[in-house]
Amino acid sequence: MDRIRCAVVGLRFGESIVKQLQDNAEICVVKVCDLDREKADRVAAEYNCGTASLDELLADPGIDAVGLYTPPVGRAALIKRCVESGKPVMTTKPLERDPAAALEVLRFARSRGVPVHLNAPSPLPCGELRQIDLWKQKYALGRPVAVRWETYVHYREQADGRWLDDPDQCPAAPVFRLGIYGIAELIHLMGRPEEVQVFASRIFTGRPTPDNAELSIRFAGGALGSLFASFCVNDGHSYPSAMTVHYESGTVKKRQYGPAFAVPKAQFDRVELELDCVCDGQCIHETFTTSAEERSGSYQWRNFAEAVRRGSPLPGEVSPEDVALGIAVIDAMRRSEVSGRPEQVVLP
Ligand SMILES: NC(=O)c1ccc[n+]([C@@H]2O[C@H](COP(=O)([O-])OP(=O)(O)OC[C@H]3O[C@@H](n4cnc5c(N)ncnc54)[C@H](O)[C@@H]3O)[C@@H](O)[C@H]2O)c1
Repeated sequence: MDRIRCAVVGLRFGESIVKQLQDNAEICVVKVCDLDREKADRVAAEYNCGTASLDELLADPGIDAVGLYTPPVGRAALIKRCVESGKPVMTTKPLERDPAAALEVLRFARSRGVPVHLNAPSPLPCGELRQIDLWKQKYALGRPVAVRWETYVHYREQADGRWLDDPDQCPAAPVFRLGIYGIAELIHLMGRPEEVQVFASRIFTGRPTPDNAELSIRFAGGALGSLFASFCVNDGHSYPSAMTVHYESGTVKKRQYGPAFAVPKAQFDRVELELDCVCDGQCIHETFTTSAEERSGSYQWRNFAEAVRRGSPLPGEVSPEDVALGIAVIDAMRRSEVSGRPEQVVLP
């Protein structure tokens, strides 16, 4: 197979994916699709590709894969249609709002040998998680004890009737929309989440959903996590992320710089890690820097292309159960937002 011929469906955020794939060595966008025909025509003209309805592109042997960027609620049903047509899917976070629907479609895709990838959790661990796994093993860091994770951006949004205005479709909005990256990282690092409680508030937003939120998580084994996501902070960076993970015998700190308005690209296009630990009676300090392409939340197009060519999961690929677990955390968070109490994470 030469370049994988992809159709991109859902062109609001999806338009940036069409742009991102313009010079991709492995994948080319040949068709675009949106319920809004005008939008589809405009994007097709701008990026020199065709348009098609979902039914047409699923029946088209000239399409090898689908990029699916529709809203999260009901996305599992659309993924199922793609898988039934034998089309691999690259989609986006959060995969679904319903953990049971997510698990069912991911298991179905595995049973058919059709890859379904997304950016959070990514199919294979991102650069910083790989490094933390390595340190954990090399220096016997032991059991995880606690983690703090945060990200933020500066939005001043107004209500527009989209899914982002509906607390049922977009629970504790900043966590659902941005903190989902952290949830994926925390599950990888800390294991099974058992219980969550969320606090959320509206400070500047014109939407009915919150713009400031904090999620607490208790993991099996007793580790505790706290995750902060906000649309309220303007410090010149968009989506910077920070994390501190404490293990029995060491601490790892992460600083991921977001795209900044005023500094050269090289200054923010990286993720820095710092380890302090005690191993065999010695104090150890190490640092590690990973590139922007490798960081959490990136779309792993090369891995997607490889999975499409193999027709089977990549060695070490994230399991359907772990993807669904992140959505089960979101579901418990949604219940906690309504009840105001801690809620159990219920596995589908
Ligand atoms: N950095 C990122 O990875 C990133 C950034 C922004 C949004 N997202 C994700 O992208 C997804 C979409 O977000 P959005 O803000 O673009 O949503 P949106 O509701 O604004 O846009 C969705 C688009 O999909 C189209 N659509 C819906 N159902 C369709 C169908 N059945 N067939 C064809 N077209 C259909 C709509 O007409 C609309 O143009 C969300 O899951 C969001 O979290 C990811």
